[in-house]
Amino acid sequence: MEQAILNVKNLRVAYRTPSGPLAAVDGVSFSLAAGEALGLVGESGAGKSSLALALMRLLPRNAALEGQVELEGVDLLALDEEAFRREVRWRRIAMVFQGAQEALNPVVKVGEQVVEPLLLQGGVSKGEAQKEAARLLEVVRLPAEVYGRYPHELSGGMKQRVLISMALVLKPRLLILDEPTSALDVTVQAQIMDQLKDLKRELGLAAVFITHDIALASDLCDTLGVMYAGKLAELGPAEAVLTRPHNPYTRLLLASIPRLGQEGQPGFIPGSPPDMTAPPSGCRFHPRCPRVFGRCSREEPPLLPVGEGHYSRCWLAELPGASRRGMPEE
Ligand SMILES: Nc1ncnc2c1ncn2[C@@H]1O[C@H](COP(=O)(O)OP(=O)(O)OP(=O)(O)O)[C@@H](O)[C@H]1O
Ligand code: SF4
Ligand SMILES: [Mg+2]
Repeated sequence: MEQAILNVKNLRVAYRTPSGPLAAVDGVSFSLAAGEALGLVGESGAGKSSLALALMRLLPRNAALEGQVELEGVDLLALDEEAFRREVRWRRIAMVFQGAQEALNPVVKVGEQVVEPLLLQGGVSKGEAQKEAARLLEVVRLPAEVYGRYPHELSGGMKQRVLISMALVLKPRLLILDEPTSALDVTVQAQIMDQLKDLKRELGLAAVFITHDIALASDLCDTLGVMYAGKLAELGPAEAVLTRPHNPYTRLLLASIPRLGQEGQPGFIPGSPPDMTAPPSGCRFHPRCPRVFGRCSREEPPLLPVGEGHYSRCWLAELPGASRRGMPEE
């Protein structure tokens, strides 16, 4: 792998809640090379958005953040807020927020919203900023006339493209996309995915792509991280995770995707995600796992190697040859 530009080590996000601390992200570590896309997948509440907001240092006030985030050798969590805002947020790491379409300002023309970060940065004339906005709209394949339109005049897919162009305005090294296509119909979703692939290739951006849809993530991403209850359950090359999934949770996620030509109903994951203020003992997936055995409820498994650059948080990885036996979809 190329040299990593992002190193995340043992990242933790804990929210203060009336029922006690909630560990939404609980010791997540990964690296990302320039031009590499990591897909983060998992059910609702797994901690995907909390992880993304931690990288942007935009967590709500009731959150505590711990661990290490190093971008191109700079320890981001050691920077004070002013330095982070001036040097990192939007400039080196940018994000398209989950459900942000509605956050576009309804009374400001789209082009002016795209330009705003450039003008705020200073040192750029209004004419130059406008030119740059027109270029960015072109990058996301929007016609130039969109510049003078208001958000309500755009379709959902167009608004999503505007948000992507806004995130690109200060030429970040890392782009985080949190469910960028989940509100769109399948055709528009496919167009945006194609576009993201082009952008990744053309700009050499590193990206974190968050979705609950593992098939969608594997389309764009080089690496897949499957999150369960605040932890990575599986991490590895997208192709390996998709074709040789190890973790029982990943296997159930994959079995739950409806496929063309599939006989019968797609599978479903039994039970529901745990209450994160009181997570299960041992392996957090054990109350729902079809392969649970004695050790699982007592001891928490670490991420164990199951292939080249491929890891699974499952005790079955310690039983050579036994890991594929008896899975429900086989
Ligand atoms: N501000 C907050 N205060 C307290 N708890 C929170 C807060 N934000 C999120 N949580 C909790 O943290 C956990 C992780 O939430 P998060 O939004 O990161 O999950 P997610 O994987 O992005 O889910 P989704 O797929 O629904 O977007 C959940 O249990 C959620 O209820
Ligand atoms: S450690 Fe046990 S409970 Fe957890 S995923 Fe593996 S088999 Fe299932
Ligand atoms: Mg989310």
